[in-house]
Amino acid sequence: MTRQTKIVIAVLTLLVGALVGTEIYAQARLQQLMIEKLTHAQKLLEGIATAKFDKIEKHANELIRISKTAEWLANKQPRYEQFSNDFARSAEGIVKKAREKNIDGVTLGYFDLTSSCVRCHQYLREIRDARAPGLERDLAGLKGERIK
Ligand code: HEC
Repeated sequence: MTRQTKIVIAVLTLLVGALVGTEIYAQARLQQLMIEKLTHAQKLLEGIATAKFDKIEKHANELIRISKTAEWLANKQPRYEQFSNDFARSAEGIVKKAREKNIDGVTLGYFDLTSSCVRCHQYLREIRDARAPGLERDLAGLKGERIK
């Protein structure tokens, strides 16, 4: 192996390492955000059940903040953005109703918000399921196997 080859390999190894590191970091940040999201959604329900409007407003605002972070918006699919907007809009609706001290409005808003959690997750499962067979096919193609 020549000296140049060794340098090229060293540089490539560093680059790949940096890329993998960035990806792992982004994944960890997303994971952290998801835990925060769940916590605020639970605290929000607690606020609703006890009719504490300041608590409701606080946690709904935290959910809006989370939905605007870079990690949350990393998925650039138009449909994901749509789900994300629905989520933020439901949380904004809750803030508005909390300011009006309208407990029924807040409760309906929470139902809206929960539906948006379910719809986005359902969508994520769908694209994951749709992607899996395609990946298998690509790998088979790479290995020169016949595509089933
Ligand atoms: C715009 C899309 C979107 C919305 C809306 C959304 N999530 Fe998520 N959620 C994600 C993504 C992306 C992940 C990361 C894991 C994945 O890819 O499945 C995730 C993961 C989670 C996880 C971790 C699951 C696991 O397998 O570790 C929880 C818990 C969670 N979300 C709760 C909620 C709750 C509660 C709401 C509503 C208040 C909500 N999510 C709304 C996109 C969304």
